[in-house]
Amino acid sequence: MAGEAAAPAAGICVVDFGSQYTLLIARRLRELGVYSEVVGCAGDVAGALAGRAGVILSGGPASALAPGAPGLPPAVLASGLPVLGICYGMQLLARELGGELEACDSAGGYGRAEIEVAAAGGGLLDGLAAAGAKLAVWTSHGDRVARLPDGFAATAAGPSAPVMAMADPKRRLHGLQFHPEVAHTEQGMRMLERFAAEVCGADRGWTPARVAEQAAAAVRAQVGEQERVLLGLSGGVDSAVAAALLERALPGRLVCVLVDNGLLRENEAAEVKEAFADLGERLVVVDAAAEFMAALAGLDEPEAKRRAIGRTFIEVFEAEAARLGGIRFLAQGTIYPDVVESAGDGAGAAAKIKSHHNVGGLPARLGMELVEPLRLLFKDEVRRLGAELGLPAALLERHPFPGPGLAVRVPGEVTAARLETARRADSIFIAELRAAGWHQKVAQAFAVALPVDTVGVQGDGRTYAAAVALRAVVTDDFMTAAAAELPQELLARTATRICNEVPGVNRVLYDVTSKPPATVEWE
Ligand code: XMP
Repeated sequence: MAGEAAAPAAGICVVDFGSQYTLLIARRLRELGVYSEVVGCAGDVAGALAGRAGVILSGGPASALAPGAPGLPPAVLASGLPVLGICYGMQLLARELGGELEACDSAGGYGRAEIEVAAAGGGLLDGLAAAGAKLAVWTSHGDRVARLPDGFAATAAGPSAPVMAMADPKRRLHGLQFHPEVAHTEQGMRMLERFAAEVCGADRGWTPARVAEQAAAAVRAQVGEQERVLLGLSGGVDSAVAAALLERALPGRLVCVLVDNGLLRENEAAEVKEAFADLGERLVVVDAAAEFMAALAGLDEPEAKRRAIGRTFIEVFEAEAARLGGIRFLAQGTIYPDVVESAGDGAGAAAKIKSHHNVGGLPARLGMELVEPLRLLFKDEVRRLGAELGLPAALLERHPFPGPGLAVRVPGEVTAARLETARRADSIFIAELRAAGWHQKVAQAFAVALPVDTVGVQGDGRTYAAAVALRAVVTDDFMTAAAAELPQELLARTATRICNEVPGVNRVLYDVTSKPPATVEWE
């Protein structure tokens, strides 16, 4: 996967056996400045290992003892590269080399555990803690290594398994039964660093500047010296950074279309226009609010609303592309988690993650070739690259925003008045979060204009007006999320401002539900 010229040699390849933490391993390596990419265990592992400095085998949900469980791809040991097996990955490595596995007793090892570090054995734990010292680690395993393969030493033991870490330093093969990539594991980053830097000798020069250069070179190679590229700007971080990168890579040849669907956040279209003012006429803003409102009229079912918005977007964009004429390339701000999640080429985490709600199929419909300059980057790398390319912080720090925009924050039928309520309440909430230093502590925050009126008392009289819900969540990956524990005074101040400043609102609620059972958005 992702074999573009933009990938530098000598990174580390993570072979995915379906662990929910696989992407986190790649993330952590990149935090260490080591390029990493993920390949599904049933994918082209040999191809993905070419030119790499080492391999990490991820954990996985299967029992290695179960018939049909994914095995170790032969290319891993055939490559002669250093290997680190994590959890399921360690078990595969141990068995492949002649060790034995067994099922854990009843409870297995789930959650936080303590391991006892053995005397130095040339493993990843050497020097991180004295022999006999305890380290807190994060585990999730139902099987364990019962007998080590020849050449290996056990370098840590724990209550759920006698072998919690193993090493064969001569062959540069390592195993950890716990998850070093999870923040709860003490010294986990040091273990990964030791593997990447000392065992593999991986290049640590993966920085935003270098990323920008490589991505720009890859785009030039794909697009050539003449052609123009069309990009749909959304107001979101990814498309903005893609635009900035493309403008640098292909000066004067980027054409951007911003479809203002009337469902954007306050000032969103204006901020994008300002940030990309240098594009001049190459930034086309299409005011399509009326088309979107017409498409939404009479619809109150969430999926029907999403479909109407997706369809209208395609119509408006297609018409614009036809008007511009003769552009062969269509750029998209696809980022690495999107690529991995939609690849589905392994026993991958892919299978479990819900499909993306973005408008797909557009390049094929338009007969255009896709350009994805950010497809190797994680979200925070995209933000750092955006800063490197000179985009304003206000734009880069914006929380994620769904494709269907405020329409999914106005439950039921969308009216102009309720859209405005959602937009203004959102803007006040975000401003208060920023002022209190909470904006960057939550992953996403917004207001929902509820389709319910309640009785209040404002000024001298009784009111019968709308209620607004506030939602703020903390999450690593948006697959699960918890309601942020915002200070009461921040919520109270926000509620007062919303009731005073947003016409037709007399009540504010805070959504305390986690995901699951709720989703982040209300629709
Ligand atoms: P849910 O509501 O599914 O949201 O828990 C998880 C994350 O996805 C965003 N989201 C979307 N993003 N198009 C998008 O680009 C969509 O249709 C869409 N729906 C939800 C949501 O804002 C949150 O960040």
